[in-house]
Amino acid sequence: MKIFIDTAELTEIKEAYSWGIVDGVTTNPSLIKKAVDARDEIHLEEYIEEILRTVDGPVSLEVIGLRAEEMIEEGVFLYERFNPVNDNVVVKIPINTRTKDGQSKKYDGLKAIKKLSSAGIPVNTTLIMKPEQALLAAKAGAAYVSPFAGRIDDYIRSNVGLVRGEDYDKGAHHDPSLMDEAIVLAKRPFEDGLFGETLEEIYSDERLKDLRSSARDEGIRSGAEAVRSIKNIFDNYDFDTEVLAASMRNSRQVREVAEAGAEVATLPFTVIEEMLGHYKTEKGILAFSEDVVPEYKGIFEG
Ligand code: E4P
Repeated sequence: MKIFIDTAELTEIKEAYSWGIVDGVTTNPSLIKKAVDARDEIHLEEYIEEILRTVDGPVSLEVIGLRAEEMIEEGVFLYERFNPVNDNVVVKIPINTRTKDGQSKKYDGLKAIKKLSSAGIPVNTTLIMKPEQALLAAKAGAAYVSPFAGRIDDYIRSNVGLVRGEDYDKGAHHDPSLMDEAIVLAKRPFEDGLFGETLEEIYSDERLKDLRSSARDEGIRSGAEAVRSIKNIFDNYDFDTEVLAASMRNSRQVREVAEAGAEVATLPFTVIEEMLGHYKTEKGILAFSEDVVPEYKGIFEG
């Protein structure tokens, strides 16, 4: 699995790239804002050029328009302006730009993906929240689809009333089987006939169906499950589109998307750090250091 770093912070990109494990970079307007806000002054075009030169691998830059024509124009601009720097620009297009005020249509993203991909510009489709969107993006010719695993988990948890920051931390792993068990335990008195007595009655009880489906998003139980589903669909039909697991929140989620066969995971710096950590590794290295005898130390000193 390729690892991209999910940041526009140059110091993080340079540091992680020096570890030899970074194959690319993803940015979005919020990540660019963070990098801009962190500096008193910034020449953004030069800054982006430096990111492109730092990494020998794809760097996603996102459009800001919402209508197809704007996204196409901006995608061509980003590619023509920045790709000559290191031949590694990927244009990020949202799958669906429909806004509440209705100024753009649901399918404008697809139009832009088709147009840019046909012109040879690699597209990373962003804000993928369900496998059906990924299927459409792949059909339109996208080079990558980015399912937002962490935000899918947040959404599913919000459906059962859990609030991020109050009930769980941003980095907390979402375990769908625990969620199912919690729901069953919370509604334990099946025996009392609350949900009927026979299996048939229980199965068809609308209240139970509502409970079960509240811990799912149209049948999907977690972000990692969405990634697995997309990977299966692409394999079924031999799509070349790569699955780029995004909005990653913790080390265990990285394992899950790797098991699912995602070609890429884009990770915040802190998640890469978390992948390295383990209590016993840290205990072990302390013990090894304490056990170094002078004789052994001496062989390194010549
Ligand atoms: C990267 O391509 C995405 O824009 C990013 O992973 C979103 O992450 P977030 O949900 O943590 O903002």
